Formats: sequence, C-alpha cells, structure tokens
Amino acid sequence: MTTTPRDTPDSQLLSQASTTASGDDRRVDPELVRRARSAAAQGAVLLRNGGSLPLPAATRVALFGRVQKDWIAVGYGSGGDVNAPYSTELLTSLREAEGVEVDEELAGVYESWCAEHPTGAGAEWGSWPFSFPEMPLDDATVRAAAERTDVAVVTLGRAAGEDRENLLEPGSYYLTDEERVLLAQVTRAFERTVVIVDTGNVIDLSWAEEYAIDALLIAWLGGMEGARAIADVLTGAVEPGGRLPDTIARRYSDYPSAAHFGDPVANDYAEDVFVGYRYFETFAPEAVLYPFGFGRGYTTFDIAPGDVTVQDDTMRCTARVTNTGDRPGTEVVQAYVTKPDGALAAPARELVSFARTASIAPGASQDVTLEVPLASLASYDETGATGHRSAWVLAAGEHVLHVGADVRRARRAGSHTVKNTRVVEQLEEAAAPRHAFDRMTLRRGDDGSAEIAWEPTPQATVALRERILDRLPSAVPGSVEAEPADGAARTDVSFADVAAGEATLDSFIAQLSPSELASLSYGDITMDSPLGAPGNAGALGGVTEALRSRGVPPAITTDGPSGIRIAAYASLLPCGTALASTWDPRAIEEMADLHAQEMRRKGSDILLSPGMNIHRDPLCGRNFEYFSEDPLLTGRSAAAVVRGLQGQGVSACPKHFACNNQETERTRADSRVSERALREIYLKGFEICVREASPLNIMTAYNKINGVWAHYHYDLVTTILRGQWGYQGNVMTDWWMRMAPDPDFPDVRDSAYRVRAGVDVLMPGSIEHGGETREDSVVASYERPEGITLGEMQRTARHVLTYLLHAGLADRTRR
Ligand code: BGC
Repeated sequence: MTTTPRDTPDSQLLSQASTTASGDDRRVDPELVRRARSAAAQGAVLLRNGGSLPLPAATRVALFGRVQKDWIAVGYGSGGDVNAPYSTELLTSLREAEGVEVDEELAGVYESWCAEHPTGAGAEWGSWPFSFPEMPLDDATVRAAAERTDVAVVTLGRAAGEDRENLLEPGSYYLTDEERVLLAQVTRAFERTVVIVDTGNVIDLSWAEEYAIDALLIAWLGGMEGARAIADVLTGAVEPGGRLPDTIARRYSDYPSAAHFGDPVANDYAEDVFVGYRYFETFAPEAVLYPFGFGRGYTTFDIAPGDVTVQDDTMRCTARVTNTGDRPGTEVVQAYVTKPDGALAAPARELVSFARTASIAPGASQDVTLEVPLASLASYDETGATGHRSAWVLAAGEHVLHVGADVRRARRAGSHTVKNTRVVEQLEEAAAPRHAFDRMTLRRGDDGSAEIAWEPTPQATVALRERILDRLPSAVPGSVEAEPADGAARTDVSFADVAAGEATLDSFIAQLSPSELASLSYGDITMDSPLGAPGNAGALGGVTEALRSRGVPPAITTDGPSGIRIAAYASLLPCGTALASTWDPRAIEEMADLHAQEMRRKGSDILLSPGMNIHRDPLCGRNFEYFSEDPLLTGRSAAAVVRGLQGQGVSACPKHFACNNQETERTRADSRVSERALREIYLKGFEICVREASPLNIMTAYNKINGVWAHYHYDLVTTILRGQWGYQGNVMTDWWMRMAPDPDFPDVRDSAYRVRAGVDVLMPGSIEHGGETREDSVVASYERPEGITLGEMQRTARHVLTYLLHAGLADRTRR
C-alpha cells in the first residue's frame, strides 16, 4: 500500500507514510527530461568564479565529498516523495560528460565507502537526516590526488523536509567539523578548488571566505536530472543561469525574522514589510554576503539602461544588454524602485520588473524593455496615514527606477514624479491583527540615513460577525430545503446536462438536498482514494454514490510540487527554489505544460502545486518547495506553473494560503502580521498568481493568521481572495484540519465554521469525527438558529462544481 490514513487528529497532521513505488513503467517524456535538466542548470547559481569554471577540455578532476555519490535530488515530505524512475549523481554524470576526466582512484575510494555507509535518507517521516556523515581522508590521499589532477571539486549537501525546520547546528545550517576538515585539506593541497553546495535551503556560507575556494556553485535540489545539469554546468555545456531568489547574509542572526522565527505558539512578524533584501538593503547592507538577484554566468555583461518614460500609467525603461565577455550567455535584467519618503515607510529597493535575455553572442547586444505599471508601485495604507485608509496608495513624490544585474548593482535609470498622492484601489480592512506587537519601521537620521524604529502594529477594528451576517449568500430560488421525507431525491437535471449547456448550474444546485450539498464539502475521507490512481492524495467532488448518480465526477488530487506523488513512477523535477532562480517564467511554464501531459497520463486531475510561501527565514524546512523571499518573483513563478498546467486542462493548486512560513507547530502556531505586510509580502504572490493565471484550486495553510486558522479565515478567503481579487475557483484545506468552534457563532463549529469562512472542501476528508460517515457539523449546524444557511452550503457546492465544469470532467461519470 502506498499511503496510510492518519488515525487521530494529531498523528494525522504530523505523519505521512511515504508513497512506495509499484508498477514497472519507468518511461518518461524525453522532452520533459530535457526541460528539467535545462531548468536545473538555469537555476544553479554561481556565486564565485576565479576562473576554474567552466572546466577546460581534458581537465583531470578529483571529486571530493560523499554527496558526489549520495546526491540529494529533492527534499523530504509530501513535496518530494515522488517515485522517480531513475536518479542521477554527480560522479556518474561527470564520467558520462565530454571533456573531463574523473580521477578514478579517488572515485573508487568514495564508491566503496559510500556503499558501506548508507545515508539513512529513507528514514521515517520527520527523522530524515539533514546531511550525511562525511568520509574522513588522510592528507596523503588528498595530496596524491592533487598530484594526479588539475582541479578539485568538493560537493557538500543539505537536505530539508516538511514538518520540521532546519537547525542552527553543524550538519544543517552550519558545516560539520568533518566538512571543514575536508575543505581545509583540499584547499591546502590543490591550487584550484570548486565547491558545489547541493541544497534546497540557504545555509551558512561564511566559510567560503575562510578557505581558498576558487569557485562556488549552489545547486538547488534539481530533481532526477539535477546532477546531470550540474555536470553540464561544470563542463561548460551550459552556463549556470541562476540568480539568487534570496539574500545570503553573513550570519543567521542578521536575518530580520531571526528573533521570532520558530516560536511554537505565535510568531510576531515584527520585521513587517522589511523581509529579506527589503531589510538588508535598507538597514544593513554590510550584513550581506551575496545580494538578492546575484549570480554569475560564464561571460560578462554591461547593462545600460535608457531613459525612463511614462505613458498610459506605465513606467518603461529599455536597457541595452551587451555581452562584454568571450562566450555566449544570457543575463537577467532586474528593475527595482525606490519610493519617496512619505507617510508609509518603504524599503530602499523593491523588485518591480525583470526579464531574461535570449542568448547573446560575445560583443553583441540585446535591448530589453521593462514595464512597470504605476499601480504596482502603490503601498498599502492600513491606518489612513496617507489620508486613505484600507487602500493601495501611490505616494506623491519621486519614484526612482534602478536597473541592473542584482539588487546591489542595479543603478539609477531615471525616475517618475507622482504629483498628487492617489488611490490605486480602495479596499476594506481585512485579516488585521488582534494581538498587540511592535513592528519595524524606518526613521531618517539627521544625515538622512535609514534607522530602524519600532511602532505599535495597527489592530483590527472590524467585527467579523456583523460582516458575515451582512453578506450571507442567498439560496437559489426553488431550492430543496430539507432532506426528502421519502428519501427520494429530485433528479430533473443531471450534471451532464449542465456540462452540455442544456441546464444552468443553479438549476442543478437547487435540487441538491442539504446532505448532498454537505457531501460536496468533504473529500473522499482518506488519502489514496479508491476513486483514483493508487497513491493519490485524495478525491473531491463526486465522492458519494448519490453525487455520482447525479453525474458529479470525482477529481483526483496528487502532490506536488516536485513531481506527481503516486504509486506509479513519475518525473522528479527541480524544486521551487531552483525554478525561481531561473527568473524565467516562460521556461517554467513550458516545463509545467509537459508536466501536465504526464498528469493526464498518470491520472492526476489536480497537482498540489505550486508551493508559494515566502522565504521569510532560511531555516524553514519547506523553503525548497517555495520560490523566493520576494513576492513578485514568487507570484510570477507560480503563475507560470499554473498557466503551464492548466493550459493542458488539468489543475494547479497553489498552496499554502497563507503565512505557512515555518514548520514548527505548523498546525497550531499563529502568524501575527500587520495587514500591510500581509498584503504587500505574504499575499502578494498569491494575488499575482490569481490575477495572472486564474488557478482553479487553492489550498489553505495549516497555521493561524492573526488568531484564526487559515481554513476558518473568512477575511482571507472570502473578503480578500474572492471579494477583492475576484477568485472564482475552489478552495480546499491542507490535509486534515484542526477542529474548532466558531467564536462568533455558537451553533457553528468544525466544518460548518470552515464552510461559513468560504473554504469549500475538507481534504482528504474526515474520518476522525464521525467514523466512516464523516463529521456532520455542516448538516447539524444547518438546523440551528444562526447555523449554516442553505445559501452558504450552495456557495461551497457551486465552487466545487464550477471547478469540475472548468476541468471538463463531467463525462467521467458516464464511462
Ligand atoms: C502538506 C501539503 C500536502 C498535503 C497532501 C500536507 O501535509 O502540508 O502541502 O499537499 O499534505 O500530501
């Protein structure tokens, strides 16, 4: 069997058996393989190169570090548990590569040692190793290898996984003593040492300053083709194309989240909008080892920005990108804005646009035009400091555009002065904190320098109860309001009629009884639903006989994001961080398009992907699944995945909405965050993804946001996601949810509370409350005075059914 249902609420939320492989069809689409390999190389970030890379033809290479054999292809947990048809590792990939000669004597030593010292990577859920003990070497062996070869390549590796954080310990965030000894031995004996860090998370890199390392390359977990991609990069078959999606600071304690991250009860997002480079570039540039957006290729570029113009409310700047080196290559042109000082403190730089060039020949140029809608320069005013409360406000004053190769090297291209402060979008307060804490803001010193200041975080003023009561959806006219006394359901209209355009969806919904409506708001009880391919993550939609007899089909979900997690073999693709590092949404979309075709072949209707929480802190155990510390890069990468998948008729399911930025006590911890930081940082990526790509499904997070669990969060899901962004799709919970009473309505609890919030489906279902018959809180609440209404149940049903219609699954029940 493949996945086990979790049998109590706690263990359900904390453990998942791995999906073991069955079947023998290991065929994969060669084009998808090619794209995955290219994306892994395009996402690899070269941080330093004194000239060792690419390795010249016929270089003799001594490979050090056990990770050359025990290559880490993906992280652990639901996001990485894919039955890849094969794996690659660096030693073999370099042996296969043209133009380099691997030192076999040393390789043989590693091969035997690794065979005798297994990694333990197949350990139980949550007890996976962060790294593998390093093989000890004596100096004589290292020196002898140096005599025989031209260059040393040392590979270090770090794994990460769901349900726990990386640790501030050797072997996780820090190097182990054994790894340091290895680096010391190798850099003493070799003139040229290349270090590869095979990791999903940012780790401490301060050691790179201590040893004589000539080249340093980050290989984000690249999936089944990851090692081959790195071999391509080392030999120069392709350039390393990655640019950092996160800032790498000198010390962990320099990260602005460090003081609060990992709190098991509640986590004050005290740094507010000063996340990642927004903090470092404003307050602590000297704390940065490698800036956001940084990465080298194998050639050099000059980026010459032209004038900044504004037409039709859009800022434009065309930059001429000239290859000043001697190899062809591509460059990522990045644009950052500096907003004027005003009522809303703003970070020194914020990414507003980026584009990757095509390959440019040495000496040749390409013009890249960056477009920045003025509306995207607005900040969110939660207090009315600008005179406009609960609105996106474009501040009066000079907005300076910086264009260049990373956040640090981007230089002033020009500016646009907004004459009068203007409201770009008037909204209403939603999801604001109900707990007092101070947040970071900016104050100018006498000399104009930026200084950190603290201020009380604005608190919520809205009474949710009234908001919900005022906006209760009405029922469809002519609805069945009670269970049919004789048990006979009305069946005038079938779902197939709706799909064929012969009946309206409302007429179908009107005939569903309260219990049928409630059924649509639960998944099929367990993971590995018998309704779908073995090893699936669960089914939704037509999960009961009664619904199926009306023509409602089931839809099958599978994890994501790095591949299709089912019992059958499926492609293992580069992790989210690797994809974001390409800064190439088009390439991501093209790969996702091919991945969608694999979904169709393997029986997945909904891929639980992309993971798109913000990299708030480098220790978050699931950062590898997510994209970046920046919301624009996150949103555009996610939108590319969604477009690619949904273009083929299957569905994406962006997750985890929202603020699942730590794994510690992920089902209980409260993410306390100002409404402004929510809107500008933590929700922004989702907003971009929803507006650009219209996902058909979205998954809520496990955690609370400002005191309310995401799966009960009316403001998050109904006020913001649906009301303000116009989201039309289905919203599902993360797998099982915490049961709780609704503090505003005594007759509403558990799934009724969830349905009232607008979270449509409890996934994968509910066996723990009510055994095989599911918890019955929705129907139970329906009969109570202020309980769930028919209109609310129908709203949920409409979202689920609309998804099924969009997905074109209606004729499945006819087969
Ligand atoms: C994870 C989700 C995943 C789900 C189904 C949860 O533990 O948080 O990301 O999609 O399980 O496997």
